[in-house]
Amino acid sequence: MTLLVYGAYGYTGALVSRAAVDRGTDPILAGRDGDALRELGRDLRCSVREFDLSIPEAVTETVRDVDAVLNCAGPFASTAAPLVDACVETGTDYLDVTGEFRVFEALAARDAEATAADVTLLPGVGFDVVPTDCVAAALLDRLPDATALALGFDADGDVSRGTARTAVRGLGETVVARRGGALVSLPTDERERRIDFGRGERPAAAVPWGDLVTAAHTTGVGDVTVYAALPPRVARLRRLARPVGPLLRTRPVRWLLDRVVAARVEGPTAAERAANRAFVWGEARTDAGEVAVERLRTPDPYDLTVEASLAAAERVLAGDAPSGFTTPAGAFGSSFVDVVDGVTWLDR
Ligand SMILES: NC(=O)c1ccc[n+]([C@@H]2O[C@H](COP(=O)([O-])OP(=O)(O)OC[C@H]3O[C@@H](n4cnc5c(N)ncnc54)[C@H](OP(=O)(O)O)[C@@H]3O)[C@@H](O)[C@H]2O)c1
Repeated sequence: MTLLVYGAYGYTGALVSRAAVDRGTDPILAGRDGDALRELGRDLRCSVREFDLSIPEAVTETVRDVDAVLNCAGPFASTAAPLVDACVETGTDYLDVTGEFRVFEALAARDAEATAADVTLLPGVGFDVVPTDCVAAALLDRLPDATALALGFDADGDVSRGTARTAVRGLGETVVARRGGALVSLPTDERERRIDFGRGERPAAAVPWGDLVTAAHTTGVGDVTVYAALPPRVARLRRLARPVGPLLRTRPVRWLLDRVVAARVEGPTAAERAANRAFVWGEARTDAGEVAVERLRTPDPYDLTVEASLAAAERVLAGDAPSGFTTPAGAFGSSFVDVVDGVTWLDR
């Protein structure tokens, strides 16, 4: 069984590629920068495939003989569609580590096509959305009549360049949530909330993350809101940035910020990751007023992404996942997150 890792020399892709080799998988390393690929290939003693995503026929021919693609090249709004096109055409399973809700929506819309081709489409096998998706599924096991879900996370540590660039793309976007099954702009008074993620109450803000699509798909619940904890410094910056929100939506400003991030943001070091923790929280409510809460403590988000994405890829390669669009907990159940070393359910 062959796994191709696309974006293999990026921050996340290189961590995933190295761990895949350590786990005894012999991945094919792929991406568009031949020099970076060959250097990593020499280091990890893996074969490499250099291709960019602009020529559909080339992408199709390159993935034809592999069993699954694990896409680590983001922003995924640019990379998911061409790889999924090629995977559906060639009967290759597709996974990625996106957290972009529009990418989840676009892939969910291809469910029938992927099912007909007997292809698994499993995006979001990283920190976003594995733990939150498992929390959502566990809450529904406890409260099967739930009609509203709130999910969120509070993570230590710095982000990598790709994560920061993906976030810059989303700057100034309307804050959306799912209501009555549809994605809608969230009323201002629901955008901030205090949440105990597992280490005391702290301020949190609604974010348009992937769970808006995946939790609804996994649980069938039509009301979903996702929150991220705000470190005090960020909470202050948000207040200061409010008047310039419209400016952040302009192309030149986003381009400039993207350049600054590309030049300056490095990912966390191994020592920093080892010291980092994250907390994941979920709350389910029924119309009758019943409430259930589940919380997880997890290792660093990038370390979780590496372990969860490879565990998911191994299960897909073993034929354990359904065809069509699916989610981590939808495919493997609410306990899937337990494959990651150091994950603890705090309310059990
Ligand atoms: N779900 C999660 O929890 C989670 C966890 C970790 C990362 N992520 C996401 O994963 C993505 C990568 O993050 P990172 O920190 O690894 O970023 P990074 O170090 O900047 O690496 C990005 C990789 O993607 C490639 N890439 C970007 N755009 C491309 C395109 N249009 N065509 C081909 N290759 C392209 C880059 O290649 P070039 O250098 O040639 O541009 C590079 O290999 C981000 O979107 C981030 O948000 C999600």
